[in-house]
Amino acid sequence: MTRPSSGPIPDHKVIAPVWGRAASVDVERGEGSWLIDRSGVRWLDYTSGIGVVNTGHAHPRVAAAIAEQAAKLLHGQQNIVFHEPGLRLHDRLSRILPGGPWGVFLSNSGAEAVEAAVKLARRATRRRNILVFRGGYHGRTAQTMALTTAKNVYRGHFEPLPGSVYSTAYPYCYRAPSGPRDPQKPGAGGSCAGCTCRWEEEWDLTLHTLVDAEDVAAVIIEPILGEGGYIVPPAGFLPRLRELTRQLGILLIADEVQTGFGRTGEMFAVQHSKVEPDILVMAKGIASGLPLSGIIARSELLASWAPGTHGGTYGGNVVACAAALATLDVIEQEQLVANAAARGAQMLAGLRAVAEGRRAIGDVRGIGLMLALEFVKPDEGDGRVPDADAVRRVIAEAASRRLLLLSAGSYGQVIRIIPPLVTTAAEVDQALEIIAASLDAAGMVRS
Ligand SMILES: Cc1ncc(COP(=O)(O)O)c(C=O)c1O
Repeated sequence: MTRPSSGPIPDHKVIAPVWGRAASVDVERGEGSWLIDRSGVRWLDYTSGIGVVNTGHAHPRVAAAIAEQAAKLLHGQQNIVFHEPGLRLHDRLSRILPGGPWGVFLSNSGAEAVEAAVKLARRATRRRNILVFRGGYHGRTAQTMALTTAKNVYRGHFEPLPGSVYSTAYPYCYRAPSGPRDPQKPGAGGSCAGCTCRWEEEWDLTLHTLVDAEDVAAVIIEPILGEGGYIVPPAGFLPRLRELTRQLGILLIADEVQTGFGRTGEMFAVQHSKVEPDILVMAKGIASGLPLSGIIARSELLASWAPGTHGGTYGGNVVACAAALATLDVIEQEQLVANAAARGAQMLAGLRAVAEGRRAIGDVRGIGLMLALEFVKPDEGDGRVPDADAVRRVIAEAASRRLLLLSAGSYGQVIRIIPPLVTTAAEVDQALEIIAASLDAAGMVRS
């Protein structure tokens, strides 16, 4: 019998063109940091499928947990039954953050979890407005497009968008108006004092001009800006934001979709500054590639949601929950959070060395295995004119050497480097060599 999935492999054209393409690998399988294509060629995947496969591709323990669960039950709908993987995962995630008490709600995608966070904040506070930070990315559904300001491609052409969303400035120290500033060298008191990015003045201005603080339900923030350019704020920023939101009765939603599950060298990025959000949004790394997302929220907030006011057919899918439990085991047992910190420090030092003397690289930054190079036209304007073309050329050169990288940034001027957290010291060295060779080949030689 001929199965419909046999015969010649269809042309790439069957995929809708809306899927922009960073590379064009006909992948067959993956292992650890590597993707292997149909011809057996190995690609070093420093995209992690956009920050998803923190445990590496097809980790045997995660794959085994999925197979075992799939043979027993594929769908145990949350409104109808209780299943063991779901109960265990809710319990485990409610204990993953310090503080609390915390409760958990599970859904399928990052955007869906952000929507849940916003709905919960509005319901719990009975306030309407949401504040976002410019450059932030929160998804592509209607509500999350309205929250997203990373790039106009994500929201342009789709007006009208849901309203009552107001934006303020993220501390982007490299692009501070009076010149680049190193966020690792904070001003007085370890805060942003002395920094010219003026995020706090902008926050204050927003609350004096666009919206009244007492009508704001929540502010949603990426602790490290992702799609917006892998921007690491100064150490004092989040604690100060937490202080301000507490004073004003505004909930703090940490969107940890890209930063979560060990990516930055802590289980969640808010833990670097010991800030306790009211709601934390998670997805991507949670289940090693199976569609699962959710929020961790203060229990009393979750209690304000009456049954039926939120939900979904697939939320907390039993196979995805089994994958998430195995993912958490692997992160713990293989000490992947510590590996992210160690390999991240190695990669950051290596990137700084590679960038030395190359004027097209304006900034090298990152934390854990969330790293970036920002490309500029050094001889134009004030020397920080964004250079998306340089990014495209370097990514293409790296791909021709079998290293997969992604871009980021509002102008596409950033290369982001997101290895699986299982990556080894030897792989990091290999990637650094390829990046150096790619910069040379793209004409960005040392001067
Ligand atoms: C910080 C952040 N929030 C939300 C999302 C949306 O997640 P999803 O693509 O799963 O809807 C993303 C996706 O990249 C993200 O990086």
